[in-house]
Amino acid sequence: MKILVIGSGAREHAICDALSSKNNKVFCAPGNDGMKLSGIHSANIDENDFDSLVNFAIKENIAYTIVGPEAPLVNGIVDFFEAHGLRVFGPNKRAAQIEGSKSFTKSLLKLANVPTAEYSEFKDYKAAEKYLNHLSEYPVVIKADGLAAGKGVYIVKDFDEAIEITSGLLNEHKFETSKIVIEEYLDGEEFSLMAFVNNGKFYPMPAAQDYKKLRDGDKGSNTGGMGAICPVNNISQSTYDRAVNKVLKPFIETLTEDHIKYTGVLYAGLILTDKGIKVIEFNVRFGDPETEVVLPRLKNNLSNVIFSILNGDNPEINWETSGVDLGVFASVSGYPDLPIKNANLGTTESFENLNCDINYAGVKLNGDSFDSNGGRLFVVKTHGDDLETTQKLIYQEMKKLKQENIFCLYL
Ligand code: AMP
Ligand code: GLY
Repeated sequence: MKILVIGSGAREHAICDALSSKNNKVFCAPGNDGMKLSGIHSANIDENDFDSLVNFAIKENIAYTIVGPEAPLVNGIVDFFEAHGLRVFGPNKRAAQIEGSKSFTKSLLKLANVPTAEYSEFKDYKAAEKYLNHLSEYPVVIKADGLAAGKGVYIVKDFDEAIEITSGLLNEHKFETSKIVIEEYLDGEEFSLMAFVNNGKFYPMPAAQDYKKLRDGDKGSNTGGMGAICPVNNISQSTYDRAVNKVLKPFIETLTEDHIKYTGVLYAGLILTDKGIKVIEFNVRFGDPETEVVLPRLKNNLSNVIFSILNGDNPEINWETSGVDLGVFASVSGYPDLPIKNANLGTTESFENLNCDINYAGVKLNGDSFDSNGGRLFVVKTHGDDLETTQKLIYQEMKKLKQENIFCLYL
C-alpha cells in the first residue's frame, strides 16, 4: 500500500516511521532530507499546493493521505481531496476551525460543559481597553484568534503590558486577526492528550507532555517545543481517566450533536489546576513534539489503525505500558528569534552512528553532511526503563554530534 504524509517536520518523520512496514511505501510531501535516511520517499510539493498534492496522490495511486500540520487542514485540504474521490485522514475545513478559531472552540466547550479558562472576546480596541481597565487580577492571557504558528499567546503580568499587546494585535494587526481572546490565567501541571477520532467514536492515546519554554527550568519565551515525554510522571491514572471521560468524551459527543463531522486526530492541551482539569486548547492534528514520543509506544502498525478507521471499523490498538519515551529537540543557534542559516551540522554518518532514534526536521543534505534548514533541527529520542537512564543516554548520544551551532534543553 502507498501512503502519503503531508508536512516536513519531526512529527511527520515519526508518523512515517510508524506507517513503515515491508508492505507499505511511504511518501512525505514535502518531507525533509533527513527522513530519506529511514527510507521515506519525499515528494517535493508544498503542503499548501493542493492541486499538485491531489495530482501526485492520483498518479501514485496513494491508498490514503495523512495530514500533519494545521494550516492545510484549516485551509480545507480534506474537503479538496475528498472532492477528488481520495481518502484522507484528518478533519474537514469546518471541523478544523476547532484549531483555527479559539472562539469557535470556546463555544463548543461551553456546550459540552467542559471546564476551560473564563474568557472574553474583543474585536474593538476601545472595548478591550475598557475591559482591561476594570480587571483587577494579573497575570492574564491574551490570545490572537486564528492560527499564529504557536506565537499568538501572551501571558501578561500587568495592565501596561496588556495594553501594549492588545494594541499590537487589534490596532497594528501583528497577526492576521481581527479578534482577540482575553482569558483567565491557569496554573498547574500541563499535559497533552491525543485521540484517534472517527465520527463520534474515539480511541485515546497515552498522555504526553511537551516542553515549550526555550530555557532550562521552564524559563524563556515559548517555542514550537523543545522536547517531549510519554507517559507523564505527575499525571495519575485517575487524572488520565477523568481527562478521557470528562473532556474528550463530552467534547466529541457535542461535535456529533452539532453535526460537525470529525475524522482524524484530536489533541487536547490540558492543565490540572487545583479546581480540576481544564482545557487550554484543542488542536486538530497530531501534536509536535508529543507524536515523536507517543507513536513509538503504539504496538500495532499505524497504517492498520488508520485504514481501519477510514473503513469505519474499530481498529485494534495496543500501547506499550512500561518504561518511558523521551525526545529532545536540537535547535540551531539563534532559534527562535534569529536562527542561523545553513549551519553545518556534521556528517550524516555521525547521525547514523547514534545509539538513539532520530526524527529530522530542519535539515538539508550538503554532500555527505547536513546543514540547518530551519530553527528546530532534529529530535534525538529513545525508549528506556526509567527517566534517569533514558535522559542520560540521550544527552550522552547528543554529545557525539558536532556541538557547534546547536543547542538543546536539559529536560
Ligand atoms: P495555546 O496556543 O492556546 O496552546 O497556548 C500556548 C501555551 O500558552 C500553552 O501550552 C500554555 O503553556 C500557555 N497558555 C495558554 N493559555 C493559558 C492559560 N489560560 N493559562 C495559562 N497558560 C496558558
Ligand atoms: N505541542 C503542541 C502542539 O502540537 O501544538
